[in-house]
Amino acid sequence: MSGVTVITGGAGYIGAATTEELLKSGRKVRVLDVLLHGQDHIAESLEQQGAEIIRGDIRDGEARRSALEGAEELVHLAAIVGDPACALDPKESNEVNVEGSQALVADAKAAGIKRLVFASTCSNYGRMADPTVPITEEGELRPVSLYAEQKVGIEKAMLHGDFNGMKPTCLRFATVYGVAPRMRFDLTVNEFTRDLWADKELEVFGEQFWRPYVHVRDAARAVRTALDAPQDVDRDHRHAEAAQHHDRQRHDDHRVRVAQRGSY
Ligand SMILES: NC(=O)c1ccc[n+]([C@@H]2O[C@H](COP(=O)([O-])OP(=O)(O)OC[C@H]3O[C@@H](n4cnc5c(N)ncnc54)[C@H](O)[C@@H]3O)[C@@H](O)[C@H]2O)c1
Repeated sequence: MSGVTVITGGAGYIGAATTEELLKSGRKVRVLDVLLHGQDHIAESLEQQGAEIIRGDIRDGEARRSALEGAEELVHLAAIVGDPACALDPKESNEVNVEGSQALVADAKAAGIKRLVFASTCSNYGRMADPTVPITEEGELRPVSLYAEQKVGIEKAMLHGDFNGMKPTCLRFATVYGVAPRMRFDLTVNEFTRDLWADKELEVFGEQFWRPYVHVRDAARAVRTALDAPQDVDRDHRHAEAAQHHDRQRHDDHRVRVAQRGSY
């Protein structure tokens, strides 16, 4: 591949692992990230590994255009992530997650990007009609939060729009866990691991709920696999669901009182 691969949110939890994975695959990687969580050290480390870093906001047209110059592939991870963050400032989450994504996709189309991978979420399935039956990509989407509603809306626009030859893939990530340059301890497995390490009792809400999980490095490999997939894969099969390939896990340890934390 001669062109550049752009990763928005490429210094985030999934993003930094994905940047490293795509650098290893021999790609020229350019990150567009506003470093919302103060990840300057991560940006510097990614730069040392060979990534180009643009410290900028996807809502900024100039930043988008310089990020997309000469690009061939786009991985769109940047977002206000999760129910609590979106509920805290619905206006900002709409500006970033919906309007920012729309503007980015329009610019990507104009720039002649060929492949687009969008970070969606398994939270799009929401409340399942029958929680005992595993759900597939064809399952009904019943989002129960603003965050998931925004992802469903963007997915629809991506999968049913006219993109002038650009191939969008929406990955409905399961809840991510595992060590990466930027850690998130608001995610169940990471939080439990930290609390066990600190010898704290785990608190579990809604022990009847099931959630799928995926390791952060597997999520990064899923992005790479989607980018490497043949161009002519049928569009209807372009919802690769990272959740499907990984164990569903149940918190049924009786020492534990448990928590259903919402969407990620
Ligand atoms: N971690 C999970 O369990 C999970 C599950 C499903 C889907 N996702 C999706 O994966 C993507 C990455 O999530 P994450 O867990 O790595 O979260 P994260 O918060 O670590 O990463 C998001 C990144 O986007 C950047 N960002 C935020 N607003 C921006 C803006 N306006 N312009 C440019 N950059 C901006 C942040 O600085 C951060 O680096 C998100 O789209 C999220 O919705 C994550």
